[in-house]
Order: sequence, then C-alpha cells, then structure tokens
Amino acid sequence: MKILGIETSCDETAAAVVEDGIRILSNQIASQVEIHARYGGIVPEVASRQHILAIIPILQQAMAEAKVAWSDLDGIAVTTGPGLAGSLLIGVNAAKAIALAHGLPITGVNHLEGHIYANWLVEHGSDSALVFPLVCLIVSGGHSDLVLMKGHGDYVVLGRTRDDAAGEAFDKAARILGLGYPGGPAIEQAARAGTTSIQLPRAWLKGTSDFSFSGVKTALLRLVEEGKVSTKADAAASFQEAVVDVLVTKTVAVAKEHGVKQILLAGGVASNKLLRQWLIKNSPIQVLVPEPVLCTDNAAMIAACGYYRFQAGKTDGLDLDVVPSLKMA
Ligand code: KG4
Ligand code: ZN
Repeated sequence: MKILGIETSCDETAAAVVEDGIRILSNQIASQVEIHARYGGIVPEVASRQHILAIIPILQQAMAEAKVAWSDLDGIAVTTGPGLAGSLLIGVNAAKAIALAHGLPITGVNHLEGHIYANWLVEHGSDSALVFPLVCLIVSGGHSDLVLMKGHGDYVVLGRTRDDAAGEAFDKAARILGLGYPGGPAIEQAARAGTTSIQLPRAWLKGTSDFSFSGVKTALLRLVEEGKVSTKADAAASFQEAVVDVLVTKTVAVAKEHGVKQILLAGGVASNKLLRQWLIKNSPIQVLVPEPVLCTDNAAMIAACGYYRFQAGKTDGLDLDVVPSLKMA
C-alpha cells in the first residue's frame, strides 16, 4: 500500500511517499527556516504564503523521487493539526484536490501522532521491532507530552508541559544568549565548546508526569542580566543539560511505573544528541529513536501514521478541515 503524506503545519512544506507504513520511497522537505530566521521566529502569514509557493513543486519532487504515478497511490494522509491554521489549510486543500482529481481516499493525521510514527519508518526494519505497550516522549516546538501507547491509534496522555514546550525553551534560551534561530540546534552546537558549570534549577513537579520549563529559562535570563554567565558555551551546555536531565528522569520513571517494554522518542528535540545518549544510557528499558531527519517535521511520518489509519478504516470525507488546536486522542 503506497501512501502520499503531506505536512504543512508549521514552517516546513513536506511531501513523501511511504510503502506499507515503513518503507520510505521519497521524503521531500522545503524548509522556510532562513526566511523566518531574520524575524527570530515563525511569522504565520509569511509561512502560509511560502507553503502556497512550495506545495506543488514539493509534491512533484516527492512523486518523481518515489518514481510513482498518481494511479500507483492507494491513499493520501495529511496533517490537520495541531499547527498554524493558514499553514495547515494549504496542505489540507492540496490533499483534497488530489483526492478528488484521482479518486483517492484521504485521511487526516494528528501531527503529534505523526511524530510518534517516525519510529516505524526507521532502520529497525519492520514494525515487529516495536512492542506495545510503550511510552513515547514527544518533544517539539509546541509540545512536550508523555504518552502511553497500547496499540495503533490508542493513546493515553500521562503528562505534558504546564508552560513552555521543550523546543520552545531551547528557542527562548538561544534568543536570550543571542545564538539565533532555531534555538535547539544553535544551543546544541554552542554547548559543544562549553562545560556544565552553571547551576540551573530543575522543576521536578513530583508526583506528576508533567513538565515545566519556564523556570529554567527565567533563571538563565536572570544570570545573563546580572552578568553571571561565564561564556555562552557554558550557558548553552548547562541549559541543555538541565532540560535533558528532567526529560530523561521523568520519562524513565513513567515507563517503569507503567511496566512498558519500550520507550520511543519523537519530535524535533529528539534530534538532540545529549537527549538521545542520556535516555539510552539511563534507561533499563529499550529506547528507540528515529534518525534525526525523521525527528523534525516531515511528511514520511504523516504517511506512516496514515497507513495505520487506513488499515483501521479511518477514512475522511472531502469535508475534512483543519483543527489548529487538535489534541492527542
Ligand atoms: O517537531 P519540530 O520540527 O516542529 C514542531 O512540531 O514544533 O520541532 C521543532 C523544535 C524547535 O523548537 C527546535 O528548536 C527544536 O525542535 N530542535 C531541537 C534540536 N533540533 C530541533 N532542540 C534541541 N536540540 C536539537 N538538536
Ligand atoms: Zn513537529
């Protein structure tokens, strides 16, 4: 079964063709990062205009790379939310137009669910490598969720951030330190030359599986304002460690508590090397992590998730609409 995935929830216009939910035949991504970098963050109106310019070329590239014709496809999976309304609309309308023109079924995918399904695409081989129940830590620019997954499409949210998402915290810290945008890769890069010599607080929120990252960001801001930060590199290394420490400790604790067989990492922050290494090192439970290019926004993960939705008979009509504040089921 060949599924065309389309993703336009934020600042990446992406299209991909995936076979049987695991094999990537193509994975095309047009990033707008350089356009938004000059504003220090994503400008929604600019993002939707860029999606309009990029969507048709990226679809053509994805079909060409996969060497498939429209008639070879079995369905279309498209992100309906969460995300920016004006950005989501471009992908959803493109998906509907293709579905109508070529008589293909369509399914709407939750972007966060898509991030989880990046784990089915990877070098682990087949889906038999993944064992339910499992716990997934989804850490992106807008979310930090701990999710218990008992089967395909079966989720219980065990914890989430009460303020900033992990990626948002990285982005804000990078701005405080003048390291540029997006902040996650900038902090990771700067941290390589630093030591974790600066004491920063961790919000453990004991007795819950929730997170809070606004305190550590404010603490960093205070230290910078008071001139107590030795070097940007030390600040970046210390900040990265503070965020990773909490993410790893709480994820391992919740996975043990629920007696799961595996822990999955997902979302843009999952491409952070320290997070990947610490989780693997500190977890007695098997940890699976997608390759970095599949952690950040892409359409292959949407196609993979869409495959399982089609398998479960979850097909949508042409009245499919965007849901900018869509939650995990
Ligand atoms: O999943 P994603 O590509 O888009 C959203 O759905 O939000 O995640 C983007 C977020 C940004 O906040 C970015 O700074 C962060 O992921 N990020 C990282 C790294 N790469 C991207 N954070 C830490 N370390 C990284 N290497
Ligand atoms: Zn994302």
